[in-house]
Amino acid sequence: MFASAAVPKAAPAGPVLRRPDRDRSREIMEEKMTTLDRIRKPVEAELKAFEEFVGRQFTAEGELLSEMLRQALLARGKGIRPLLVMLAAAMNESVPGASLGRRPCLAAMMVEMIHVASLIHDDVIDGSDMRRGKPSANALWQSHKAVILGDYILARNMNIGLQSGQYDLVTHICGSMSALCEGEILQSDHAARFDTTRKDYLDIIRKKTASLIGISASAGALAVGASRDRVALMRRFGEAVGMAFQIQDDILDYTASDSTGKPAFADLREGKITLPLLCVLERMDEGRRAEIVDRLRRCGEDAGAMEYLQRIVANEGGISAATGVMRSYLSQAVELLSEYDASDCRAALVELCAYVGERDR
Ligand code: IPE
Ligand code: IPE
Ligand code: MG
Ligand code: MG
Ligand code: MG
Repeated sequence: MFASAAVPKAAPAGPVLRRPDRDRSREIMEEKMTTLDRIRKPVEAELKAFEEFVGRQFTAEGELLSEMLRQALLARGKGIRPLLVMLAAAMNESVPGASLGRRPCLAAMMVEMIHVASLIHDDVIDGSDMRRGKPSANALWQSHKAVILGDYILARNMNIGLQSGQYDLVTHICGSMSALCEGEILQSDHAARFDTTRKDYLDIIRKKTASLIGISASAGALAVGASRDRVALMRRFGEAVGMAFQIQDDILDYTASDSTGKPAFADLREGKITLPLLCVLERMDEGRRAEIVDRLRRCGEDAGAMEYLQRIVANEGGISAATGVMRSYLSQAVELLSEYDASDCRAALVELCAYVGERDR
């Protein structure tokens, strides 16, 4: 069970902690802060340096490619992965408060740009025309150019990494790229056969999402020279966060809301069995399961089949069961942090766990 005592509920965006001893201007500023802004606070300067580094490094030759790259960088999202790199680096730094240097910056850039490229490719694969509330790269420039843009970002990323000479970090980070591809291939194979089991699902999301989030946390520790044990621990922490992150994404896919900036019910439309539906399917007998799979096959063209499945998942406890699984991963993640002494960065990572479980975008 998700230990609510250990993991504070993320404060809602908008009004946050009120402390009587603070002056009003400080209060007003804090009220405007979102949960993520607050989590970023201990590594604000490092994240700024990372943003500047990305802006300097990611340039392209040629008008069209430059424009495509500019848009891809402008349309970036929440930045969870670089945030994890920086918080993990600061928490593992042997001299608390010491400047982190350039290795965490390089690691943050590499994981974030792998992520950016993977989503450009993901929208092509999923046939999705919207990302972060704006037209996706494939919607703007057609799929073939979007594929090349993703490839260009990956190639440039690798090039910058190798030129830096930080081979241990580059090797560590690039290991997650093959796992991501394995996860995507497994997913599309199962989606075509409508035969995903819970074991398959967990394997898919570990590879396609948790691997890169795990590597983000461990790369932060590696970047500041943490011990082998601590690097491995941070990787387990990040993977647990990543499992929860993808489960929440799959739950949000069942929510018709503008907040995600992505089309709703995309997974059903593509015939994907994710955890909310799996939890319902697992409780059904063979006959009902076959009926559900039959509707899932027709989801792409048949609005009635789609609505039926949405209703079944909502009414038969699919969302709450998936939420329970997601929270148990977050509990594991928070538990791993107890190996570290209390600090601002540890507190921020605990709050990040709460945020992952409650995020709506
Ligand atoms: C979306 O990741 C894809 C998943 C792994 C679920 P994010 O939600 O981190 O994407 P952005 O960068 O904030 O849009
Ligand atoms: C995550 O899966 C994509 C990657 C890890 C590349 P989704 O396909 O569910 O991601 P969204 O929902 O489009 O962001
Ligand atoms: Mg997608
Ligand atoms: Mg996808
Ligand atoms: Mg999704």
